[in-house]
Amino acid sequence: MLYSQLFASALRSFPGGELPTAVEALIENSFALSRTRFWIVRDQPVRDAAGLRRFRLRLRRLLAGEPLAYILKEKEFYGETFCVSPAVLVPRPETELLVEKALGLLGREEARVLDIGSGSGAIAVVLALRSRAAVTALERSRPARAVLRRNVARFGLQERVRVLAGDLFPRGNGPFRMIVANPPYLSRRDWRQAPPTLRRYEPREALLAGPRGTEVLARIIAGAPARLAPRGWLLLEIGHGQHRAVQGFLKRAGLKEIDCVKDYAGIERVVVAQKD
Ligand SMILES: C[S@@+](CC[C@H](N)C(=O)[O-])C[C@H]1O[C@@H](n2cnc3c(N)ncnc32)[C@H](O)[C@@H]1O
Repeated sequence: MLYSQLFASALRSFPGGELPTAVEALIENSFALSRTRFWIVRDQPVRDAAGLRRFRLRLRRLLAGEPLAYILKEKEFYGETFCVSPAVLVPRPETELLVEKALGLLGREEARVLDIGSGSGAIAVVLALRSRAAVTALERSRPARAVLRRNVARFGLQERVRVLAGDLFPRGNGPFRMIVANPPYLSRRDWRQAPPTLRRYEPREALLAGPRGTEVLARIIAGAPARLAPRGWLLLEIGHGQHRAVQGFLKRAGLKEIDCVKDYAGIERVVVAQKD
């Protein structure tokens, strides 16, 4: 069998859809081929039996609906490759909008930043890499913190990113120039209606906030003013249809909304607020 035939037959096994990029990534990863090398060997026979076994096993997992990132144990975010495991949410492209906004506000400032619910550390690591900020990465889940620490070490950021355990806010830390969070924001109903593969593979505590979905956002907003420096910023990723509720929480907390970024689907996704 040629690599190109392996590729084509794998694609045929996806009913109703094609996942050429995922299958290509699986082949490259299973046979330890670079993208260029894969294109070079496309019309050569597959001789690597161990690679073929690895590929077939992984393909079965992909067919069962497991996210490619968990199979490959890595995911690209903001141009960097992060370790992931089922203990952490797979970083999403929408979250890059939050990072972009945060980097624009931070500029070259040596600011202190708090990332609440850091998960894999995607936000915290990119902020540390692309700005002069010192980041506190707070995460409640112990297995997620292990992945977070691995990523901090992978980028050699132990001096710039401090990993902490806690429930939303660190004790006795701050004030912060900026607080960022992509918290759980699904309601019970959203969770029930979410694709079965998401419910089956991604950590529930990373996604489900409570009956309404805005519970964690409300707690973060209420607690932020006491941890923010004067004129400090709060950047939050929010769910579909939550903007109005979030505006109410911000008003109650005395924070001023200064921007709201829409995602690629035109949904209000990142809210930026500032303390007076
Ligand atoms: C939606 S995920 C975001 C992960 C990562 N920041 C990202 O954007 O890919 C939310 C994260 O918040 C963590 N989390 C949930 N509730 C928390 C709490 N009360 N305190 C701290 N972390 C919490 C979850 O374990 C999860 O890792």
